[in-house]
Amino acid sequence: MELLLPCVIIFMSLFNHASCSQYDKPYSAIFSFGDSYADTGNFITVMKEKIAYDVFEHSPYGMTYFGQPTGRGSNGRLVIDFIAQDLGLPLLPPYFSQGQDFSKGANFAVIGAPALSIDYLRQQGISNFYPVDISLNVQLGWFQQLKPSLCNSTESCQDYFSKSLFVLGEIGGNDYNFVISSGKSISDAISFVPVVMDTIKAAAESLLKQGALHIVLPGNLPTGCIPILLTIFASTNKLDYDHLGCLTAYNSIGFYHNLKLKELVAQLQDSYPQAKIMYADYYEPVIKFLENPDNFGFSNDNQLVICCGGGGPYNFNFSANCGQPGGSACSDPSIRINWDGIHLTEAAFRVIATGWLKGPYAHPPILPGNKRK
Ligand SMILES: *[C@@H]1O[C@H](CO)[C@@H](O)[C@H](O)[C@H]1NC(C)=O
Ligand SMILES: *[C@@H]1O[C@H](CO)[C@@H](O)[C@H](O)[C@H]1NC(C)=O
Repeated sequence: MELLLPCVIIFMSLFNHASCSQYDKPYSAIFSFGDSYADTGNFITVMKEKIAYDVFEHSPYGMTYFGQPTGRGSNGRLVIDFIAQDLGLPLLPPYFSQGQDFSKGANFAVIGAPALSIDYLRQQGISNFYPVDISLNVQLGWFQQLKPSLCNSTESCQDYFSKSLFVLGEIGGNDYNFVISSGKSISDAISFVPVVMDTIKAAAESLLKQGALHIVLPGNLPTGCIPILLTIFASTNKLDYDHLGCLTAYNSIGFYHNLKLKELVAQLQDSYPQAKIMYADYYEPVIKFLENPDNFGFSNDNQLVICCGGGGPYNFNFSANCGQPGGSACSDPSIRINWDGIHLTEAAFRVIATGWLKGPYAHPPILPGNKRK
């Protein structure tokens, strides 16, 4: 209530809707699901003692904002961090961190998470995944486990979630990578898109039925522009590359996933007219960054070369990854797009987050806030 007056004054005097303080805190909590593009520290806990060496626990991860590794796959904040800060909320505590206050949000995303369960992937002859099931449904199960500590009756939960922002993704990129790295083809990977969509749809509907009114569904990246794939699938045939130096065939996976995801968003929006379902884009901004790096504050040299790595044409080196001995960071990550060959820099995530909040990279943008009003 106390926010109403300054809001009206600002609105009337400046006609500036965006700075209207009604929207300063449109959400009281954020819940996030997904993979390494959203994990703020679950993987390093879940995978402790399960993998031999975890690069995400090592410098120079985290060097720019946190001054130390936090389990995030970047030099600093991710899109979800910028969204939390811009909405006036605390950074999302990872679900697996001890003794946290989850009343303003929780993050269930885990590095390497697929949409599909590992049992399902295994049945399809896919083998290349982490030995723990961290898939989307499992993450939703963690949310259900946390729920009684957040709200206790159907009504209070509906009310609480109606004021919360749910970010469901990015998810699915790992499923396609697992398919490809199991020796299968690009069209095999694309054949998984429908079942990935069904999984995302079921997750979104589960949240909507529990009272969620604001759901962001982020799409996949143009993985053909991601240096780990550019390194693994390097081709001597120039026709395999587009004008940006990206592998066209691999980009088609994310492109098709996103096409289907946009259809799903439209379908959910029709079925749940009281809700606001948002498609959030990673694909277009990455292409735009590569096309015109200096428009976004990045340097104009080859931006397929990563900031943190250990040599080679893209500075991506499997024997000297970022976070491993022999892998090191560039002198100024703020002018680079790609951090470690898989994930983007904090600088790139910042531009994307702003584009999701205010446009043009989310449809519709997350702001202005709460549909409930
Ligand atoms: C819900 O009930 C449980 C058990 O009585 C309690 O521990 C928890 O704090 C309650 N949660 C809320 C949000 O009131
Ligand atoms: C990759 O890293 C290894 C180990 O540090 C190093 O010996 C090798 O020269 C690097 N490769 C390139 C292309 O720089």
